[in-house]
Amino acid sequence: MRKFLTTTALAVTMTAGLLSAGLARAAENVEVLHWWTSGGEAAALDVLKKDLETKNISWTDMPVAGGGGTEAMTVLRARVTSGNAPTAVQMLGFDILDWAKEGSLGNLDDVASKEGWDKVIPAALQKFSKYDGHWIAAPVNVHSTNWVWINKAALDKAGGKEPQNWDELVALLDNFKAQGITPIAAGGQPWQDATLFDAVVLSLGTDFYKQAFIDLDPAALGGDKMKTAFERLAKLRTYVDDNFSGRDWNLASAMVIEGKAGLQFMGDWAKGEFIKAGKKPGTDFVCMRYPETQGSVTFNSDQFVMFKVAADKEAAQREMAAAIESPTFQSAFNVVKGSAPARTDVPNAAFDDCGKKAIADLADADKNGKLFGSMAHGHANPAAVKNAIYDVVTRAFNGDLSPEDATKELPAAVAAAQ
Ligand code: BGC
Repeated sequence: MRKFLTTTALAVTMTAGLLSAGLARAAENVEVLHWWTSGGEAAALDVLKKDLETKNISWTDMPVAGGGGTEAMTVLRARVTSGNAPTAVQMLGFDILDWAKEGSLGNLDDVASKEGWDKVIPAALQKFSKYDGHWIAAPVNVHSTNWVWINKAALDKAGGKEPQNWDELVALLDNFKAQGITPIAAGGQPWQDATLFDAVVLSLGTDFYKQAFIDLDPAALGGDKMKTAFERLAKLRTYVDDNFSGRDWNLASAMVIEGKAGLQFMGDWAKGEFIKAGKKPGTDFVCMRYPETQGSVTFNSDQFVMFKVAADKEAAQREMAAAIESPTFQSAFNVVKGSAPARTDVPNAAFDDCGKKAIADLADADKNGKLFGSMAHGHANPAAVKNAIYDVVTRAFNGDLSPEDATKELPAAVAAAQ
């Protein structure tokens, strides 16, 4: 009898324990602010949601459409100002450090040290995941902006050769025009113009990219090479269709996918759209580095930033951060997203050829001092400077500023924003 009572009591205690643990776990929830709203992005986000579901963490979605995250950052500011920060926020580069400076972010040191992040997350990313020596964000991927996505059938019709320099690129675009398709699928939004400009500037030399966008050297920002960059941008603009203005980047990707356009200059999130549409690299489309940027990478990394929240939400934040950095998740997510993993120890086996190239390029560029933060995606400068550059680049792309005038305005705009 005594034994029975003890056993029963134990069972009751255990059940109560399990129940309360179960209830506590089921109550865990993350509200996530992000701008992953295209087909490919949503598919990648789903990998994260499902992973968290297996850990009993539910997801409250807070999508704010707009590539590059400008709109998302505006919505975030309003939420934080009203004292109601989301649990986790997708963020890029210098924006993370700005929020850290304001003292708004939580601390992920315990999960980072338990999981050994210091050893496996590259220093180029840690620069934005840590503030004052403390972990404040969990990097989910590494994208890069100096890519070209080409319709394979159109390229084959043009002779099949990937353009290796500016003249060959122009010849290919002329050929696309002669084929009766739109040579360049573009979306006329400032961040998209800036994404192309990242590659154009990089193609004129890694030193030049560094001097102009990382060091903000007025001589580089206003010199002859910058004029060449603006001249090339103006030339590229002549290969865009009439309806480009305001077009979302994923609709531009769809033009290449459907063979209505020859190519798109875009970061490797574009690959997510091709994959979502069932297209295969090497068969349906070709990925290549923007001509004359082979070996160099302008990168951006999406990180999930954890804001200071009520104590009962911190466990979910830590679990989400740990889930994001798991090597299995890093592989599964980045295969769908089009990016490279944020850790250096993730096997490349599950990645397609473009993904394998992204991973190899990143490692090589890092080793050879040719890895730079993307100006267009907030990894070269804080938002004020980035937006000043956007403004000049967009006016130049739209023909509102001549290459000469843009070259004069750029150093002045950057100086005023600093
Ligand atoms: C982000 C990508 C995203 C792209 C377009 C970039 O700034 O890093 O993850 O897919 O914007 O929305």
